[in-house]
Amino acid sequence: MKTIRDIDLKNKTILMRVDYNVPLKNGKVVDDLRIRESFPTINYLLENGVKRIVLISHLGRPEGKENFDFTLDPVFSVLKKAYKNLKVGFYSLPKEEEKIPIPEQVQLALLENLRFNPGEEENSPEFIKNIIDAVEADIYVQDGFAVIHRAHASTDAVKEFLPVYAGFLLEKEVNNLKKAIEKPKKPVLVIIGGSKIEDKAPLIEKFLPIADKIIVGGKIAADGYKPTDKKIYVAEDFDEDSNHAKLDIGPLSTAKIANDINDADTIIWNGLLGKAEDPTYATSSIITAEILGSKSDATTIICGGDTTGFVENLMKTHKKLSYSLVSTGGGAALEFLLGKELPGLKAIKN
Ligand code: 3PG
Ligand code: MG
Repeated sequence: MKTIRDIDLKNKTILMRVDYNVPLKNGKVVDDLRIRESFPTINYLLENGVKRIVLISHLGRPEGKENFDFTLDPVFSVLKKAYKNLKVGFYSLPKEEEKIPIPEQVQLALLENLRFNPGEEENSPEFIKNIIDAVEADIYVQDGFAVIHRAHASTDAVKEFLPVYAGFLLEKEVNNLKKAIEKPKKPVLVIIGGSKIEDKAPLIEKFLPIADKIIVGGKIAADGYKPTDKKIYVAEDFDEDSNHAKLDIGPLSTAKIANDINDADTIIWNGLLGKAEDPTYATSSIITAEILGSKSDATTIICGGDTTGFVENLMKTHKKLSYSLVSTGGGAALEFLLGKELPGLKAIKN
């Protein structure tokens, strides 16, 4: 895999795909891990004399329409603070055949949410070509590890127009995941939570041949996911609010997870088990993170933007917690672990 170490960067304009799909609350970034993880690549590019870096990302699922609930403006605030000594700019996506007027002194630019245009998810060559031309990019850097399982314009179609090189986050994630699953020790336990049932249900199926047990919690379980195999256990009790909304899995199911973790030698956890941004409904996720983080005799893999952010926050106060691998990718990490060919990886120059 070719990385940014393999090219001459001097005076080049870099178009860099990142995954800044981060959790927001009241217009603010609540967990900036995915943003911070892109800094080693940005810093290296700057130290090696690039003319400019133009960052592109998606956030959430605005479904091809301009919807400012999904603006990257909160991410821009984080970038501005982190790069105080640089001039940082934030720009709308270019209209057809329009140049983006980035002033000469702006070394770091962020474009608005790629998914404001349907071309991104439609893997449209014209869409990405238009962006390349609008910023006069010379080199494409792929560092959005968490989105490489999607065949979108910024992960796939782009390879028709520019050579694609891996950034350091992508390289690190791929190497770490490879190492972690070289020889997976059995029993393998997979814990799946989160809310994207349409994404997770097929993945659960695909883990059946690899996993000895799969536990399903989170909103997927609350929404009534039905197990399709006796290896799958779906949370059976829940903590509810006054409207009977099931917002966390209950003590019975949490105890079951704790037991199964103790019995397993490889554990893969993706997706929070309850609405953990609310401390009242974080109990099962905290217990799971604590047991996993204290289990030093197993391979423990935490993946997904929300899960990873949650675990990282917990590690700040519980200094003893440690994991074999913490990945910024959710679906991307799971599909990589399943050995699937990922479009965004395939697009990178060999
Ligand atoms: C993620 O959070 O899993 C990635 O950013 C991809 O987002 P998506 O599932 O909306 O494609
Ligand atoms: Mg996510």
